[in-house]
Amino acid sequence: MEKHSLLSFTVTLLGFLNPCLTRLTPRVSFPIGSPGRNLIRFSNHNVRNTTTLLLSQDGDMLYVGARDSVLALDVRHDDIILKSKLDWSPPDKDLEQCSMKGKKMADCPNFIRVLQFLNTTHLYACGTFAFSPRCIYIDSETLTMSLKPDEGRGRCPYDPYQRNTAIIVDGELYTGTVADYRGNRPVISRYLSEGSRVDLKLDDTLGWLEDPTFISSTFLPDEGKIYFFFSEVGREYDFIDKFIVSRISQICTSDVGGQRTLQRRWTTFAKAQLLCQADNELPYNVIQDIDTLLPADGAPEDDTLFYGIFTSQWSVNSGRSAVCSFRLTDIKSVFTGNYKVLNRDTLQWRAWVQEKVANPGECGLHNASDNVLRFVKENFLADESVRPVGRSLTMVSAEHNYTHLAVQRVQAANSRHYTVLFLLTESGYLHKAVLLQNGAHIIEEVQVFEQPQPIKSLKLSIPKAVIYVGTSEGVVKVPTANCSFYWTCAQCVLARDPFCHWDPVSRTCVIVSKIPTTLGQDIDGGNVEEACNSVSLTRKTRFGPNNLPAASCPAGELVSVSLNEVIRIQCPAASQLSQQVWERPNSRLSSDLYLFLEDGSLSFVATPATLGHYLCLSFENGYQQTMAIYHVKQKSSPMTQSPTRFPRPQTYPIPTTQAVSRHGPELHTSVGTSPKRTESTNEEIRPTLSIRNTQVTRGQFGRNLILWTEKSGQKETEFKGGEPLLAAKGPCYLRELVVVSVLLVICLSLLITMVLYALRQRCRSRTAPQAGTANRDSDRRTPVEQEALSGNNILSKHNGQPLHSGHVSGLFCNGTLTGPNGHLPNTPSEQS
Ligand SMILES: *[C@@H]1O[C@H](CO)[C@@H](O)[C@H](O)[C@H]1NC(C)=O
Ligand SMILES: *[C@@H]1O[C@H](CO)[C@@H](O)[C@H](O)[C@H]1NC(C)=O
Ligand SMILES: *[C@@H]1O[C@H](CO)[C@@H](O)[C@H](O)[C@H]1NC(C)=O
Ligand SMILES: *[C@@H]1O[C@H](CO)[C@@H](O)[C@H](O)[C@H]1NC(C)=O
Ligand SMILES: *[C@@H]1O[C@H](CO)[C@@H](O)[C@H](O)[C@H]1NC(C)=O
Repeated sequence: MEKHSLLSFTVTLLGFLNPCLTRLTPRVSFPIGSPGRNLIRFSNHNVRNTTTLLLSQDGDMLYVGARDSVLALDVRHDDIILKSKLDWSPPDKDLEQCSMKGKKMADCPNFIRVLQFLNTTHLYACGTFAFSPRCIYIDSETLTMSLKPDEGRGRCPYDPYQRNTAIIVDGELYTGTVADYRGNRPVISRYLSEGSRVDLKLDDTLGWLEDPTFISSTFLPDEGKIYFFFSEVGREYDFIDKFIVSRISQICTSDVGGQRTLQRRWTTFAKAQLLCQADNELPYNVIQDIDTLLPADGAPEDDTLFYGIFTSQWSVNSGRSAVCSFRLTDIKSVFTGNYKVLNRDTLQWRAWVQEKVANPGECGLHNASDNVLRFVKENFLADESVRPVGRSLTMVSAEHNYTHLAVQRVQAANSRHYTVLFLLTESGYLHKAVLLQNGAHIIEEVQVFEQPQPIKSLKLSIPKAVIYVGTSEGVVKVPTANCSFYWTCAQCVLARDPFCHWDPVSRTCVIVSKIPTTLGQDIDGGNVEEACNSVSLTRKTRFGPNNLPAASCPAGELVSVSLNEVIRIQCPAASQLSQQVWERPNSRLSSDLYLFLEDGSLSFVATPATLGHYLCLSFENGYQQTMAIYHVKQKSSPMTQSPTRFPRPQTYPIPTTQAVSRHGPELHTSVGTSPKRTESTNEEIRPTLSIRNTQVTRGQFGRNLILWTEKSGQKETEFKGGEPLLAAKGPCYLRELVVVSVLLVICLSLLITMVLYALRQRCRSRTAPQAGTANRDSDRRTPVEQEALSGNNILSKHNGQPLHSGHVSGLFCNGTLTGPNGHLPNTPSEQS
């Protein structure tokens, strides 16, 4: 009891100390159906539950274990072609029996859960077969069953929802699964051994496994070992009920069991805790998936890394997931270190104090004495835990529940290597992240499925540069990159995708070639100026002599307004990481007069003081682009008023190097790019104030057509054609950029200081009254503005975007520290 309250106190305390996590926003998002990411799908109405994937060495064939069938898919070309299909379903009487035993009919078919290459000509497959697992040999060429089925107990789970792992090495099958109908006899075993080699399993008298969930297994040839990854109940933490720990366990492939002691049992089994934990934080204790990153050519096998996804058992961290990496050297040194021993009387684990009789986990103990074998039988839990590389988490996501991952080492244009992670979220998005010095950068997210999937899988094909996602509905093929999506050098560089670089000759963003170059890519810095050599494009910028926007900027748009009208002008986002900033020539945009809305748009009341030019800039990683220019003008008399086009300056030629007739990104920002907004009804409510929401909306963001619609009352003016409105231009404003950068740095440090201070305050007193900046702002407004803005406020709330005054500084300095609403993201508020 006391222990429990102490624990919950610790949990609360740790949760509270949990620092603000960096927000990991994918730079670009491709929802299902985006033209920027055409996904190839394989689905077939009589093929379901295509979740066990096996890829041939050359990546030409994808074998799929599905429900009641095994498929061979030809994936040499763009399309996925069904080459052959093997039907393998339980007979009706087995199905009847299965449902009579009380199982759901939907779980009784044969779900293929083991699919491996046996040798050069055959596959080996096991299925749940109506809760009575079976295994078969399959000719990989013709996809026909060759021998009569094997008993599948211990090789495949009975229950299709139970996780298992299997790997074939030298014709022998190594499995981790439950070996009974009820699902409570977990085993790690070897099958298909021949001659002097015998099938082996775990000795289950000592509880070598405690209710495990198997995740995966991997074979390292130089070690002669197979590593199993799983989570289980950590009995060594006897003070916490059902404390889950993640484990790595090992066995040697040379093992043949003992002669008297440990006959037909592993003599080389050992396990250790995998600890995905940062200092002073609760561990992310439940492993979800893990993948092996083999060392670069020429590096020793000891440099092998394992990247794993971990989630937490506790509600303070619920919905979050962390990635940790573990180095083989560290794993080996834990396994060669000391072991814990179980006190049979008290059932408590403690570190070993007696003399070491043998080294548990050592290969080649088959001829060892009974004394040695008894020692290794009792000492199988390593005393130390395996700590992550750098003793820190590789990345933490507060908003995404990652479930599967694949890892690849990618050679960038400058021939340096970067680690790229592909992470599948519970909700069906595939994130591509590159690991940089100061953390992960999520290059993009691609939605691969919409319906939640109980079972899913991920398979990376490096030779074909694609990822396969297996779900209940089919298999989706996702290319690891689509460089041509980035239509300017700036976009290509800002993406920081190691797969892509800008080719100055063809002026396209292309897959990195083998020839090293330093231009057109900057993964570490994302520095557009250098990588695009764009300094030479700099020219006189800002508003020109006639107060006209300079060249290489988007054409301006005219917004005709009546006085006292509320205006809202839009600023499209260059990416989900960009910050939009509004500027006026020779004048400051004070928050007394202007509302900076969350979606980046600007709202204000038309007064003589607010008429004029507005410039919307987008900042990303120190690079500035002009996204839109508006000229807000008072309506002249109805006679002269006609749809006007803001004159494009002819004096400055538009540099063609970065001329943009292509489209903006199919951005999927969570806020405010919705092109259609209902017109305000305020006119009826407050006719005297003439509140009409003049707004310029992004009508369509087509590839070759940029169409902006100006709505002012009934009138509609359309600007069409190849006008580079959304010009991802070179630096329009270099000098300003420097100034702004300096300002940004100052602001950032100020903000960090403020945040730290705020955090401290928060810790001290969470109920302290907040200073009302919003009130002060509104006090200074004129009654008309006050009225109008509050009208707009209502309107905005209608659209689900509550306003936040005092957002200005947030816009400017908003790095990773403030969320879109200006609040600190992820400060734990759930204390239960
Ligand atoms: C890559 O992006 C371009 C530009 O958006 C698009 O036309 C093309 O279809 C995309 N290719 C794939 C394979 O998604
Ligand atoms: C592969 O294994 C199958 C089944 O044991 C066997 O019939 C076949 O001859 C083997 N093929 C080779 C090339 O060893
Ligand atoms: C995250 O995903 C895992 C694996 O599917 C699941 O067990 C867990 O409940 C999920 N957590 C949340 C908070 O959705
Ligand atoms: C065990 O030792 C004997 C002799 O000491 C040797 O002949 C035999 O090959 C050894 N067995 C194995 C499996 O190494
Ligand atoms: C099989 O697929 C169906 C949907 O088609 C899904 O409801 C079910 O949970 C899946 N079962 C398994 C074991 O994956």
